[in-house]
Amino acid sequence: MPVVVGIETSCDETGIGVVRDGELIGEALASSMDEHARFGGVVPEVAARAHLEALVPAMELALTSAGITSDDVDAIAVTAGPGLATALQVGLAAAKAYSIAWGVPLYGVHHLAGHVAADALAHGALPNPCVVLIVSGGHTSLLYCRDLVDDPIEHLGDTLDDAAGEAFDKVGRVLGLPFPGGPAIDRIAREGNPTAIAFPRGLSRPQDPRFEFSFSGLKTAVARWVEAHEGDLPVADVCASFQEAVVEVQVDKTIAAAKEKGVRSIVLGGGVVANSRLRLLMAQRAAAEGVALLIPPPELCTDNAAMIACAGFHHLNLGERTGLDVGASPSLSIGGPEVA
Ligand code: KG4
Ligand code: ZN
Repeated sequence: MPVVVGIETSCDETGIGVVRDGELIGEALASSMDEHARFGGVVPEVAARAHLEALVPAMELALTSAGITSDDVDAIAVTAGPGLATALQVGLAAAKAYSIAWGVPLYGVHHLAGHVAADALAHGALPNPCVVLIVSGGHTSLLYCRDLVDDPIEHLGDTLDDAAGEAFDKVGRVLGLPFPGGPAIDRIAREGNPTAIAFPRGLSRPQDPRFEFSFSGLKTAVARWVEAHEGDLPVADVCASFQEAVVEVQVDKTIAAAKEKGVRSIVLGGGVVANSRLRLLMAQRAAAEGVALLIPPPELCTDNAAMIACAGFHHLNLGERTGLDVGASPSLSIGGPEVA
């Protein structure tokens, strides 16, 4: 039963995950979020230094929590991109060092392929075929997936500007809410009217690209509306109306992709999947189409290393390995489940 250790350092969290035969058996997570909060966003250099300090202790903790030693490890998988270059480099350098020191193969994993693989940890083999929506502070991507080992992941569309979570965070800042704005907007929106303000739905006209997203116009529209408003700001209505605009576009495009590809399953990933309105509307629309909806638990939706280990596990089975010359690729395009 092969054991794969995954290392994920693409943003502000140092994650180590240990997967045995497709099952998570140990993990450790350190976050530098508190160090970034006062800047209102993640500072790459601060994140990189925090990864450097956290990595070795996190590895020891993850192996201990799995009840194994380095002798039991069969492979190392590491996020090679996309992500913050300086942060990725720390994880890659560590992964190469462990690979040499422990005499085990190294796999460079595409971060989005990791998000896709996360569902396999929660629900067993990924439905083949399926459409996957990944929405977080860093990405908004629609993917068409078949067999994770044999078939390349097809990138259907992405955001052309802000990521969905980024839009939540920027609107949160406009409204003076704590960072990150997503959870606060979700909570406050429950008291508001989602039809109170008609905010724009980006790239939703018939002539627009069907599977691309755009949220910066929406963010600007919210900022303008708030600026122009006189008197007490109806914060709950702004939150609810903004959230509805983001969620509706995500659900419309995901359902359209599922129909076009003729899939019977939709899988979600990324931190924005915590959004209660997104979960509800997606569930309703998927049910209406007779399509199954798979949502991994929150800890597997947000960035984590178990998903990277899981993606690496598929490649161990294939007998492939990545050379030690693999570099950090901050803006990697997804061509397949791994980068080599
Ligand atoms: O995957 P994730 O934890 O990490 C990064 O992308 O870095 O996603 C974090 C993002 C943030 O933008 C946060 O505002 C958003 O997910 N988020 C939410 C909710 N919970 C987290 N957005 C909307 N509603 C939520 N309940
Ligand atoms: Zn991610």
